[in-house]
Amino acid sequence: MRVDVVSIFPEYLAPLRLSLLGRAADAGLLEVHVHDLRDFTHDRHRTVDDTPYGGGAGMVMRPEPWAEALDHVLASGRAALHDDRAGPHLLVPSPSGRVFDQQTAHDLAAEPWLAFACGRYEGIDERVLTAASRSVRVSAVSLGDYVLNGGEVAALAVVEAVGRLLPGVVGNPASLVEESHADGLLEYPVYTKPESWQGMDVPEVLRSGHHGRIARWRRDEQLRRTAQRRPDLVAALDPSTLDAQDRDVLARVLDPAGDADFSAG
Ligand code: 6GU
Repeated sequence: MRVDVVSIFPEYLAPLRLSLLGRAADAGLLEVHVHDLRDFTHDRHRTVDDTPYGGGAGMVMRPEPWAEALDHVLASGRAALHDDRAGPHLLVPSPSGRVFDQQTAHDLAAEPWLAFACGRYEGIDERVLTAASRSVRVSAVSLGDYVLNGGEVAALAVVEAVGRLLPGVVGNPASLVEESHADGLLEYPVYTKPESWQGMDVPEVLRSGHHGRIARWRRDEQLRRTAQRRPDLVAALDPSTLDAQDRDVLARVLDPAGDADFSAG
């Protein structure tokens, strides 16, 4: 996969060269190119922003440097990929985007080329995105319902979430199957040695060696946790994936008094 990131803070993307993703880059599984938006300005002050039409607080990113930067990304990617009709899926991090989730990460992991337009200030002149959407797919993505100062942290998060799904990046693919959100539930709690620590013992069932009981305990913990912390995820579950004990565990958390009917989902 090729990834291009355009930002006025290219150093912000340095962590992509560390750890798992750094190794993925070394192995040729992921190729990341970071571009400085200010390299596409032509004035002495390398200006990228201006005041908003219509008034209001803050500054808006001017369209010209963005258009030049995105043209450069398109041209250099096409040359590298030896495909003069290729184009990236352009992701625009924004708190007003669609919330990024694990399903989106999987969808994006199937794409050969992603580009990120990391805005700062109050955002990028909307015409940049309108113009880009005439030649490439454009998606606004949000990390969640809170506000960051710019798109760089979101680009880091999305590249990490997507990059680790690329074949060969995570050493043991089984760990992708068992983790939080893989099946619409949060992960069960985990323990390692020592068996007893600060007066707390590892749950007996995990030391029993009884694979059936362990699997059931873990499932119960996943359901309990998800019901307690993320009732929205429980509401989104396909009821046909729940057995009688699943429904019982959920009912005990969501309806301790026992007056709701979970039997039909
Ligand atoms: Cl993607 N960008 C910004 N600036 N703030 C955010 C966000 C993105 N996601 C959540 N908050």
